[in-house]
Amino acid sequence: MNISRRQLLALTGATTTAMAAAKLQAAEKASTATGLKDAYKDDFLIGAALSATIIKQQDPKLIALVNKEFNSITPENCMKWGEMRNEDGSWKWQDADAFVDFGTKHKLHMVGHTLGWHSQIPDSVFKNKDGTYISKAELAKRQKEHITTIVSRYKGKLAAWDVVNEAVGDDNKMRDSHWYKIMGDDFLVNAFNLAHEIDPNAHLMYNDYNNERPEKRQATIEMIKRLQQRGTPIHGLGMQAHIGLETNMQDFEDSILAYSALGLKVHLTELDIDVLPSVWNLPVAEISTRFEYKPERDPYIKGLPKEIDEKLAKAYESLFKILLKHRDKIDRVTFWGVSDDASWLNDFPIKGRTNYPLLFNRQHEPKAAYFRLLDLKR
Ligand code: GLA
Repeated sequence: MNISRRQLLALTGATTTAMAAAKLQAAEKASTATGLKDAYKDDFLIGAALSATIIKQQDPKLIALVNKEFNSITPENCMKWGEMRNEDGSWKWQDADAFVDFGTKHKLHMVGHTLGWHSQIPDSVFKNKDGTYISKAELAKRQKEHITTIVSRYKGKLAAWDVVNEAVGDDNKMRDSHWYKIMGDDFLVNAFNLAHEIDPNAHLMYNDYNNERPEKRQATIEMIKRLQQRGTPIHGLGMQAHIGLETNMQDFEDSILAYSALGLKVHLTELDIDVLPSVWNLPVAEISTRFEYKPERDPYIKGLPKEIDEKLAKAYESLFKILLKHRDKIDRVTFWGVSDDASWLNDFPIKGRTNYPLLFNRQHEPKAAYFRLLDLKR
């Protein structure tokens, strides 16, 4: 029988395997060429928050994905006061060190998160055993010890710090936190001054949620101006951007312009888009039960319907169009997580739902939104 080499090759199983391998290699090569971080390299950094679990597991595929798509990382939890320190004040460095080692090894821009926050910090930092507040001088001392120790340890490795997180409350006044009640604005001024003294090259940011909205933006601007009048070394403004499908994206454009007019670089620090029914605006009677799980509040357990996936893609697309338009004012856009399976929004504000807020699905494959963002750069 006269048979060509090609036909022969096609007939042999071994060669089929070899061809499949070559095909896979080619596909892998093609896919490594066009990560988001490369597509946006002339615009701003593209970041992701990484959990301590991701760093520990060292899943090669996930690590490859992180390296392909992102050039900046933020620790999801491991640098928060409550994670770094035992009740007696002693330090737990393991996860934070592992995070910094990971970023160093993979040459990623790293953001420290966070030096001053009212959450994930024990009451004992602020209170005596009898429940009364410690003095302002004592809290300032604890703050100094905390910030000095951690910023020194990672000096020159972390490029930026979320110095203070969420100091403006939902009523658009200064948040009535323990920090603020004891120290007032000095809580913020000291935090920035301390970080700057220790690492003068670090980019120092104020970070908050909902601060793209007009009222909170105004309150934030007033706060920043007060800090600036006192010569506080603040360089960047973080909009967390935990948003929803119905978020008014125009607010971001107005906020980018307003924050940038203060001389600050703008960052989107914790971007994700919640696709599940919101429980925040339920009738008053229901607000106290907003954390209660009900099946109708978790409609996409079996998968995200195509039309919602499309809505998500559109929402990301319209946000990124604004970001690209103002790329000269924006340093970085960081997603709060890599893939849907590990997003905090599966458990917030209701535990155990199935949410789809990120660009990668539960199999770590890119979603429609991902391709839409790549298309914006083609
Ligand atoms: C806030 C904090 C983050 C994180 C998210 C939810 O936005 O800044 O550290 O806790 O909430 O995960």
